[in-house]
Amino acid sequence: MKPIRFRGLFKGLFFVTRAHYLVPSYVLNFFGHIAELSRFVHKHKNSEFNDFYTFEFDYAKREKMFDYLIETYQLDSEIDYLEFGVSTGGSFRWWVDKIKNPGARFYGFDTFTGLPEDWGPFKAGDMANGNEPPVIEDDSRHTFYQGLFQQTLIPFLKKYDGADRPKVIHMDADLYSATWYVLALITPYLKKGDIIMFDEFNVPMHEWKAFSEWTSSFYINYRVIGGVNNFYQTSVMIE
Ligand SMILES: C[S@@+](CC[C@H](N)C(=O)[O-])C[C@H]1O[C@@H](n2cnc3c(N)ncnc32)[C@H](O)[C@@H]1O
Repeated sequence: MKPIRFRGLFKGLFFVTRAHYLVPSYVLNFFGHIAELSRFVHKHKNSEFNDFYTFEFDYAKREKMFDYLIETYQLDSEIDYLEFGVSTGGSFRWWVDKIKNPGARFYGFDTFTGLPEDWGPFKAGDMANGNEPPVIEDDSRHTFYQGLFQQTLIPFLKKYDGADRPKVIHMDADLYSATWYVLALITPYLKKGDIIMFDEFNVPMHEWKAFSEWTSSFYINYRVIGGVNNFYQTSVMIE
């Protein structure tokens, strides 16, 4: 006699009875991810350049973190800076102005027509830059790639010759789909010492979810080198 396969039986019952109507899957997923995020926060709350726990959200702290990283890791050098999510160019311009080294290269990726999906209170199409990349005058070190990352990144990487250069990657696309896609595709180009900065890291169902799935799927070793606004902005270094 065959043993009763309880798991199979459970799944069968679940499917047949359409139990998905009874399970608040988004809510359960949300709590699962925020619990994992909280575990991460407590593991890394004493890492360098950290303000946990702060009652005050101050967006300017992200620039203080950038300054700290530039100084500590000598980033005013021949780096490749890749920003995913440029919008009107606020942070992109900040980095171009800050890094004076003539050999540095700056690559910005965005639809420039706004978010491709809703994100929290923002609707698809929000954050557009009038459908065009921003203009950054007096600097020939930068290039913009307009379109969905899902369309522009593979052609870019096919021609990319910077695998050996130090990289600073700025993930500021907000969305889970965009963040996960970029992290997965750039993995073969990463090496020890490369820095990845996240702008909405502690949003459980978006950047955090993408980061945690990426690190576990690709066995990524990293060190937390910055976390401000209770890890809203977080930076890691590949080890
Ligand atoms: C928060 S804004 C970037 C802000 C900018 N880094 C700053 O600090 O000034 C997010 C941007 O990500 C872009 N974005 C999100 N998902 C994308 C995708 N899959 N492909 C291309 N751009 C995307 C949106 O168009 C939007 O302009």
